Amino acid sequence: MTKSSSIGQWSSRWMFIMAATGSAVGLGNVWKFPYMTGQYGGSSFVIVYLLCILFVGLPILIAEIMIGRRGNASPAEATAKVAIESNRSRHWWWLGFFGMITAFLFLSVYSIVAGWTASYVLRSLQGSFVGVTPDQISQMFDDFLKDPWQLLLWHTFFMLITVVIVARGLKEGLEKAIGWMVPGLFLIVIILVGYALSTPGFMEGIKFMFRIDWAAIDTKSFLAALGHSFFTLSIATASMMIYGAYLERKAKIAKIAVTIATLDTLVALFAGMAIFPLVFTYGLPHDQGPSLVFKTLPIAFGEMPGGGIIGALFFTLLLLAALGSSISLVEPIVAWLIERWNMRRAVAAWLTSGLIWVLGFAALLSFNYWEDLKLFGHWTYYTFVDGLVSLVLLPVGGMLLAIYAGWVMKRKYSEEELMMPPWLYSIWRFIVRYFSPIAVIVIAWISF
Ligand code: PHE
Repeated sequence: MTKSSSIGQWSSRWMFIMAATGSAVGLGNVWKFPYMTGQYGGSSFVIVYLLCILFVGLPILIAEIMIGRRGNASPAEATAKVAIESNRSRHWWWLGFFGMITAFLFLSVYSIVAGWTASYVLRSLQGSFVGVTPDQISQMFDDFLKDPWQLLLWHTFFMLITVVIVARGLKEGLEKAIGWMVPGLFLIVIILVGYALSTPGFMEGIKFMFRIDWAAIDTKSFLAALGHSFFTLSIATASMMIYGAYLERKAKIAKIAVTIATLDTLVALFAGMAIFPLVFTYGLPHDQGPSLVFKTLPIAFGEMPGGGIIGALFFTLLLLAALGSSISLVEPIVAWLIERWNMRRAVAAWLTSGLIWVLGFAALLSFNYWEDLKLFGHWTYYTFVDGLVSLVLLPVGGMLLAIYAGWVMKRKYSEEELMMPPWLYSIWRFIVRYFSPIAVIVIAWISF
């Protein structure tokens, strides 16, 4: 492998940590994690989720960043190059490509929800949550989803910001945007936990999340927790692979990955700690699914003094978190178009985002006009793609990355790339070779 970077490099290690954390922290932490915890019974889901992060997600996150840096190319090229170096077939290009396809599908639904957060920034500023009943707030959200033009407007808005950032490139676009988004998000989450602390339902919310109740553990939640551990760490969409490709060679990947996973987990737990106390304080249902953040938090924003500003800040930062994720979903594809098809960055960025934007129509229509159009008699486009990505593509992609890092790559190359203490390296290698792939299969097996 050449030492020089042919495809650009982060200006610092810290920038990589921020970018990867910006990718990891997203709607998955502040929107999805709380609602899944609510749906799957609270603490039992949280425990399974934490175990999945530690023993499956983190080792694979290390693997994905490592493959990217070793390959130092776009994802499809990186998985080919690294395989060739270990005397394996160049056909492994499809592994990187598989990640890019997943990213593509993923963003077509992710962007719709990100659009909701943008719209809620405006609503908070307009004071829409003040002086209205919880029922009216709930109705407001339902009406919003029924209006495809509104959804289109916000989806377009979100994709436009994404494309403008990605088109400007690594230093001028990604780094400049990420540099202030990530610290800002942390600040706001902490402020919100502080507020939740002052509500009477705080302890109940905390108990709901953390009191261990083994009897409540439901095997169905296993696959959901595993899928979500990949989702939240941005695994298997080639995002971490391309970000790893931009990482300087001396940086210690495992250490950095632990930092990213820790920050990501903290944001998820804080988000839960900000939200559940409000749910219990106001006697709201905790298991209503995807609408949790859009129906419960606004109630609190409507009640608290200065809630309009805090609400706007919360949704702005949720929006920024989603942006950090969306740019990392577009980037792997853009890098590939530049490298493989010699496209100019701006063209590649607009083409990729444009196609995702179009695919997003199907997602936004599935909340209204196409609500009754059920794929395989069961799912709307949105629920289908959401399930396909979280429950199939991410677990399968993650498993393949583990197999690739553990079996396809020669030991000496991964050892060289990771620069870990030998005992830790052995544990990592054992996990990616045996534990992670088997865990994915067993969990999928017991969940179905
Ligand atoms: N990790 C992001 C979240 O938690 C989602 C994501 C997945 C982003 C894959 C990029 C790539 O919201």
